[in-house]
Amino acid sequence: MAVLCSFDARKSRYSSCVSFRLLFVLVFVLTVAHGQVRYSIPEEMNKGSVVGNIVQDLGLDVKRLKSGRARIFTEDSREYIGLNVDRGTLVVRERIDREELCAQVTPCSLHFQIILENPMELHRIDVEILDINDHAPVFARKEINIDVGELAVPGARFSLDNAQDPDVGLNALQKYTLNPTDHFSLKDVTDSDGMKYVEMVLKTPLDREEKEQHNLVLSAFDGGSPPKSGTVKVNVNVMDANDNSPVFSQPVYRASLSENSPKGTVIVTVNASDRDKGANADVVYSFSQSSGKALDLFNIDAHTGDITVNGDLDFEKNKQFQLNVEATDKGGLKDSSKVAIELVDVNDNAPVMSVISFSNPVAEDSAPGTVIAMLNVKDLDSGKNGQVKCTIDSNLPFKIQQSTSNFYSLVTERVLDRETTPEYNITIRATDEGSPSFSTNKTLQLKISDVNDNAPVFQRQSYTAYVMENNTPGVSIFAVTASDKDSGNNARISYFLEDVLVNGVSASTYISVHAESGEILAVRSFDYEQTKEFNIRVKAQDGGNPPLSSNVSVKIIIQDQNDNAPQVLYPVQTGGSVVAEMVPRSADVGYLVTKVVAVDVDSGQNAWLSYKLQKATDRALFEVGAQNGEIRTVRQVTDKDAVKQKLTVVVEDNGQPSRSATVNINVAVADSFPEVLSEFTDFTHDKDYNDNLTFYLVLALAVVSFLFIVSIIAILSVKCYRWRRERLFYKSGANLPVIPYYPPLYADVGGTGTLQHVYNYEVCRTTDSRKSDLKYVRPSSESIISLDTSGTQTLTHAQRGKLTSDSVDQVR
Ligand SMILES: *[C@@H]1O[C@H](CO)[C@@H](O)[C@H](O)[C@H]1NC(C)=O
Ligand SMILES: *[C@@H]1O[C@H](CO)[C@@H](O)[C@H](O)[C@H]1NC(C)=O
Repeated sequence: MAVLCSFDARKSRYSSCVSFRLLFVLVFVLTVAHGQVRYSIPEEMNKGSVVGNIVQDLGLDVKRLKSGRARIFTEDSREYIGLNVDRGTLVVRERIDREELCAQVTPCSLHFQIILENPMELHRIDVEILDINDHAPVFARKEINIDVGELAVPGARFSLDNAQDPDVGLNALQKYTLNPTDHFSLKDVTDSDGMKYVEMVLKTPLDREEKEQHNLVLSAFDGGSPPKSGTVKVNVNVMDANDNSPVFSQPVYRASLSENSPKGTVIVTVNASDRDKGANADVVYSFSQSSGKALDLFNIDAHTGDITVNGDLDFEKNKQFQLNVEATDKGGLKDSSKVAIELVDVNDNAPVMSVISFSNPVAEDSAPGTVIAMLNVKDLDSGKNGQVKCTIDSNLPFKIQQSTSNFYSLVTERVLDRETTPEYNITIRATDEGSPSFSTNKTLQLKISDVNDNAPVFQRQSYTAYVMENNTPGVSIFAVTASDKDSGNNARISYFLEDVLVNGVSASTYISVHAESGEILAVRSFDYEQTKEFNIRVKAQDGGNPPLSSNVSVKIIIQDQNDNAPQVLYPVQTGGSVVAEMVPRSADVGYLVTKVVAVDVDSGQNAWLSYKLQKATDRALFEVGAQNGEIRTVRQVTDKDAVKQKLTVVVEDNGQPSRSATVNINVAVADSFPEVLSEFTDFTHDKDYNDNLTFYLVLALAVVSFLFIVSIIAILSVKCYRWRRERLFYKSGANLPVIPYYPPLYADVGGTGTLQHVYNYEVCRTTDSRKSDLKYVRPSSESIISLDTSGTQTLTHAQRGKLTSDSVDQVR
């Protein structure tokens, strides 16, 4: 403590300073009484500070102190205060801490003796140590943590630490304060031991969700001047209680999803928050049972809230779903929300096509626009994905038309022709407009049915056929063929002979036509010498309704056969009479005796005649001109030559084989007629001649007998044939095709190639037309003698003419 007085000019200041000094002196002096001095000093004075002047206060002088060897005696060894002998003052030797010396004891004093020798003197000195406020209140901990449940009710108390202040008295701890005070207040409590401490009392309820930690400061103040304080942090942790329900972030969650999304696809994530903490904030998500059958299709992750696909989502079955979701915390508090899921159509359905009706086959003459098929097309998808278009190949003569929304008809667009295209494969393609689009194909196999729109066509414009004369009746001459582009009955061709006149009679007397094969058959045997050629027309008719037909002309040319022997016109052969050519004996070499004149009714080579001398009485005398038939002498006639000369000349045609005739010529070599006559009288009685005559008579008799037997058999055969023919008609019915029928009056021939017998032919045709029913009988005399090889050929033709052995009766 320093007292400073400043003597400045102001009087009033001086006086106040004086009064302060007086008070100070009074304090010290009061303690000096009866050799006992008391001093009071504050603690913590600096070393050397003067505590008191004992010379004054004890009434001693400095010399006495020196002489008496004054010193301080303390009972304990510590000397806080020393004696300055020179000055007679007590000074502070060591730091004096009241709290160390006395703690809480008051008053706190130091007691010691000042000892003087010569004479011995004892003076007791008391120094009271006064407290100064040198300590602030101190809390043992830096901070205090207190956990408070958020549900704690107001009034709840929480004890706090006490602060310590070693000072005493006013300088000791006086009061506490707490800041802030919005939730808590302080309360001083004195317990039964008299111990004072503070409590914190909850004023208003806490809410962890609002503020989880409250940081308070507890301050302790002492009563010093100025006061000192100490503080401690009070951390109030509000402990969570499950006082909040989970809350979904949205009342409704909306999501759209394409159908057919794979399992596990996350659709939407629901989220509920719970303002509580820790376990109280753990939310579990679930579907509520009210969601119905959608529960099978979706899944919810209990912890993340992810809603995923768990089944097959088909837009065609269900377009939208509503799910009710719940969030539950550990304490069982709940919130619920809705999830609206809308499916988006994906083009996952191909169009489906069904044929309602189908006209098959369709006739080739159907008019354009004829309906062939009706179709129904469906697509389960919606919107563009379900819009379907039907198409067909544009090359086809058909088109597809939409009649109503889902119905289509397939109609013809052009005229059809079965002969060009008998069948169509119509592929109908239904395509939807999705992206990518689906399509379906359907193939209709349409057959075009035939209509008789094509007439038969002959292969050629006209035909020429050749036949040898003397053919066997019934022989096949030729065959015509026609074709028809239609099919079935419309292409079944029958051939007919047109009824034209040939040589003034019906053509059917010459020719018949096989209805099925188109074969042209000779009805009779032709004779080139009578008819060289003729024309017929053959008609081909199909089986359509109505039938179509065409005709063709066939020229039939009859070819010559060497069937006529040459006929000698001169010299005339007159049975018994003898004619002789005269040759005078004087005739020169090359004298023309006579000329053989012959003709042949055949033609060509068959009528080309040559002459040969066959026999002669004297071969050296005559010759015959091979070409002209002139008989001339070769040498001079002599007297030795017989009068009667006989020549046989053969006239031969050039046919293959050739035919011939012989002529006998009598030549008389004489100069006068009587000479001749005498020589020739035995001519008629020629032995050869008589032999021949007998032969001819026998032959004539045989022929007559033969003819008689033949006639009898012929009559019987005709009867028999008529009876059989009636039976045949009865069996076959009326609509038989035309079959040439050869009656039994037909003779076989021997294998020699030579016709040896007489034949009668009767040819009958069973047709439905009267006019083709003909009978032709060939006179037997015409074929009596036939030596040619063409007989073999004729036989072959006859066998081809469908003659069977049981339809032929052999006649001898
Ligand atoms: C139509 O299809 C059938 C079977 O696939 C086939 O046999 C026939 O040849 C086809 N016809 C045409 C004209 O392509
Ligand atoms: C034969 O055909 C021609 C056309 O080719 C026709 O003019 C004629 O009338 C037909 N004849 C008969 C008899 O049908």
